[in-house]
Amino acid sequence: MAKKKETVGEILFTEDQIRRRAKELGAQISKDYEGEELIAICTLRGSVVWFADLIKNIDLDMSIDFVSASSYGSAQTSSGFVKITLDTEANLYNKSVLIIEDIVDTGTTLQYLIEKFKERGPKSIKVCTMLDKPSRRTNGMVADYIGFTVDDIFIVGYGLDYDQRYRNLPYVSYLTGAPD
Ligand code: PRP
Repeated sequence: MAKKKETVGEILFTEDQIRRRAKELGAQISKDYEGEELIAICTLRGSVVWFADLIKNIDLDMSIDFVSASSYGSAQTSSGFVKITLDTEANLYNKSVLIIEDIVDTGTTLQYLIEKFKERGPKSIKVCTMLDKPSRRTNGMVADYIGFTVDDIFIVGYGLDYDQRYRNLPYVSYLTGAPD
């Protein structure tokens, strides 16, 4: 039987909704970190679109950096193996580190990143995620700032991919009929 091609479902969150949420969270972050030396770290690649929205709404003297931590295994589920394929350049020592995620799913990536960054002696580490999928969590990871909570469906768009595609969709949606 021929493989069924995946299709994009309904819009879950529009660009407008996401940007409004970025504004709210940006204001909250600006307040919470007042007077501190903040470094916002974008987790490539999925977070780039949300990251760009969010940092424009943070009113602080801050810097940015990038990390790429990929979990690998099957296409749709995290395998539990994570590796850093591109590390930050900045010295995180004594800095207030804010990790910006697109989605926290099992929490494996986040747990790994936090462990690694802690070794570098930051003042604090917090997490801001656009999407949270708590039903899939396999550890105790809880983001400090959450844009939206989603059900256990295969999310794409606004940075999130399936097989590196759909990242460019200007909204958050989901796939139906995608192979496992
Ligand atoms: C995705 C996403 C998160 C992680 C969440 O990254 O960006 O970092 O998975 O899953 P977890 O909570 O189960 O660890 P992915 O490794 O797919 O890389 P990408 O951002 O380049 O798409």
